[in-house]
Amino acid sequence: MLPKYFNEYKVSNISAMIRNNGRNPKICTDNFTGRLVVISGATSGIGYITAMKFASQGADLLCINRNEKKSAALKEEIERKWGVSCKYIIADLSNLSDIRNAAAQLIKVERSIDVLIHNAGAYLTKREMTQDGIEKIFVVNYLSSFIINTLLSEKLKSQGRARIILVSSEGHRFVPWGLELNDLNWQKRRYSGLKSYGSAKLAQLQSMLIFADRFSSSGVTINAMHPGAVRSETGQENGAFYRWIKKHVYDRMLRPTEISSESIYYLGVSKEMEGVSGKFFNLTTMEEPAPPALDKQAAFELWEKTLEITGMQDIFV
Ligand SMILES: NC(=O)c1ccc[n+]([C@@H]2O[C@H](COP(=O)([O-])OP(=O)(O)OC[C@H]3O[C@@H](n4cnc5c(N)ncnc54)[C@H](OP(=O)(O)O)[C@@H]3O)[C@@H](O)[C@H]2O)c1
Repeated sequence: MLPKYFNEYKVSNISAMIRNNGRNPKICTDNFTGRLVVISGATSGIGYITAMKFASQGADLLCINRNEKKSAALKEEIERKWGVSCKYIIADLSNLSDIRNAAAQLIKVERSIDVLIHNAGAYLTKREMTQDGIEKIFVVNYLSSFIINTLLSEKLKSQGRARIILVSSEGHRFVPWGLELNDLNWQKRRYSGLKSYGSAKLAQLQSMLIFADRFSSSGVTINAMHPGAVRSETGQENGAFYRWIKKHVYDRMLRPTEISSESIYYLGVSKEMEGVSGKFFNLTTMEEPAPPALDKQAAFELWEKTLEITGMQDIFV
């Protein structure tokens, strides 16, 4: 029997992806003065340069970071350079209690959150379990955004306007036949860094299908994007061999992080993105993701499983 989705794969989608990978992002020149942007993982790589971009256009920032020292340095740099406000919440986004605390602090923010960017992410060559007993990559790259979006949904809807951006990846294509909902912790299969990363990014894309429905007509939009294959600090938690290959081989082929920050700024600010929701972008080009990322039934099953894992109620129904 052919694997699920086999007949839905089209060569034209893969060639579109390859074409889009080489494109430059559309640039938005609009100002964002006085608006509030929440971004996770702003202490390095794509998150750092994106925080700088929004601040340079007048936006205030509220960052969700795990490292106090780096956060304080970022706050000092942004406020000094751009004269905007840069606050931060300290949270380890692999820890469910920290994620819930971060969401609780966001709910208390008295002004509107204009753009919420789920950027923090990680890639591990070896499986790690969190203190909650869940595979770490799944928590950082997927569950953290699921929990924060869910807990924050009432606030965002009451604002009548907000854009959520999931910094996803073309890596969701590493799991072409979909998620293994019965083995999310990789206990029955051999762990693969690429597949675990791809599974978490695919889960995030599937959750977007449901969030987009639940937010429809509320003024809140949610979109996902591949930020390009860019030179960042990703993978620093892996062994010396991986880090050596990354520095001396991969990094030479990668593009600068500015293409990511310009893309995220465009998706978060431009008038062309008004009302657009539930879509996947490669930089700023709308693109069809892999078939499992469009499977609504699988997305519902994941949604139910996620509520079970996190012990949350479906507060949308
Ligand atoms: N770089 C690429 O080519 C590429 C391609 C596709 C998708 N992406 C996605 O882009 C996003 C940003 O990645 P990047 O390449 O900029 O990597 P990066 O340089 O490693 O930055 C990742 C950010 O996430 C934070 N972070 C990691 N684990 C965390 C945790 N448990 N709790 C809180 N924060 C945590 C890091 O904090 P610290 O500063 O404390 O380490 C850092 O600020 C990720 O979602 C990644 O999957 C990147």
